[in-house]
Amino acid sequence: MNETVLILDFGGQYSHLIARRVRECGVYCEVLPYTASLEALREKQPKALILTGGPNSVYDEASPHCSKEVLALGVPVLGICYGAQLIAWLEGGTVETAPTGEYGRVALTALSSPLLEGVPETSVCWMSHKDYIAAVPEGYVITAKTEHCPCAAMENREKGIYAVQLHPEVEHTQFGQTILKNFLLGIAGLTGDWEMQGYVQRTVAELREKIGSGRVLCALSGGVDSTVAAVMVHRAVGDQLTCIFVDHGLLRKDEGDMVMKMCREKFNMNVIRVNAQDRFLAKLASVREPEQKRRIIGEEFIRVFEEEAKKLGAVDYLVQGTIYPDVIESGLGSSATIKSHHNVGGLPDVVNFREIIEPLRMLFKDEVRAAGLELGIDGEIVWRQPFPGPGLAIRIVGDITEEKLAIVREADAIFREEVAKAGLDRSLSQYFAALTNMQSVGVMGDFRTYDWAVALRAVTTSDFMTADFARLPYELLEKVSARIVNEVPHVNRVFYDVTAKPPATVELE
Ligand code: XMP
Repeated sequence: MNETVLILDFGGQYSHLIARRVRECGVYCEVLPYTASLEALREKQPKALILTGGPNSVYDEASPHCSKEVLALGVPVLGICYGAQLIAWLEGGTVETAPTGEYGRVALTALSSPLLEGVPETSVCWMSHKDYIAAVPEGYVITAKTEHCPCAAMENREKGIYAVQLHPEVEHTQFGQTILKNFLLGIAGLTGDWEMQGYVQRTVAELREKIGSGRVLCALSGGVDSTVAAVMVHRAVGDQLTCIFVDHGLLRKDEGDMVMKMCREKFNMNVIRVNAQDRFLAKLASVREPEQKRRIIGEEFIRVFEEEAKKLGAVDYLVQGTIYPDVIESGLGSSATIKSHHNVGGLPDVVNFREIIEPLRMLFKDEVRAAGLELGIDGEIVWRQPFPGPGLAIRIVGDITEEKLAIVREADAIFREEVAKAGLDRSLSQYFAALTNMQSVGVMGDFRTYDWAVALRAVTTSDFMTADFARLPYELLEKVSARIVNEVPHVNRVFYDVTAKPPATVELE
């Protein structure tokens, strides 16, 4: 259907990013582990291959390798960083540890190459390596270099194999997107046929065909993913879909009402709203430990959902808003659990159904948003920042009470309103108000106060694995702080969190 590029992942920290950049070029791609068999690769009928970076040294026996036949599938290949070194090594070149590694921005000298068309002779690129290609394989020519890296790019045009030591996917590489476009649209001759309009129409048609006259159930969380998934399925099968929206009382101000209004009034969907606030608050009473909060909310969510689903009787399909980063994450090994993220995991066990439907399974977040707009979902919902499943419970440090929830909700609404007014809402990855468990002395009018401190958090990130605190203008912070202490009862102090992740995390718990 769409022309496909396969990205073989060798454990690099930027593998997702490569995939996103490829999609930004209008080219459909999938990430597969480096262990994927040749048959598995061929089955996908790729038009090009990209080998990613990775933390290992190709000459270590234990390092991830693919067979040399991968290079001979008959489609153009681009190796990036470790991927470049692997090509050199497989093709008979030499890879060694460099006397001087390169990390960060480096001046690049580009020679003539179809891969580097439009890249000036000198530009800035992003490097992150200690090993380097010391001798290129026979038949290859060097097409770029840096001060400490004699082979920053090499190629064998006849074989259609290209390799770059630099990271074109990282935005600090000035002409990174040019390099990727040259490879995809120039060298591989792809047409750039990946766009959301076609995807939505095709998926809706496929869903209609697959579901037939079956009954479908969806757990609507009010987040972007589950909303877009539900609306897409609704477009396909209308009233055969029933959504259950569990309001656990930990949502942002007016959030539940907004989602219900959109689903019912705009799309005329069957949505059951379960007002379970009291149940959740009772279970959470006096609980202070973040992971315990997550566990309780996760379990209670499943229980409430199960009770409602039972009332509906058997269904044929369950819709989930899984998106591509979740798929890549679960398919390509796992890292240490810092926080146990609760979404609606676990649901499949408690609902009696035939099959799971995941209409967004192959989409990145920005593509989910584009699909949402294509389906006619309001920008206000489509552009909503990510909101964690356990909601405000993990934005209140310590135990949760109704009073604290009211404080966070109001402070957060003010913060969001002012950020939007300042025109910064789309440039921040996530921003919110949280409640510290600190009370301190203040003065209001002529009176002493002893009230709560609100923490504001705003971050920029491309993948939420690392994040930087946003450099918000002081004027904005001043305005938000003044409004919060004046408008939200029992708050007399506002902090702005200036910690990156790591060492902090995005959420306070
Ligand atoms: P952290 O706090 O881990 O957050 O740096 C990274 C991203 O994950 C979100 N987050 C969660 N999402 N359930 C979720 O669905 C959770 O328990 C959870 N904890 C954190 C967080 O909002 C941020 O986008």
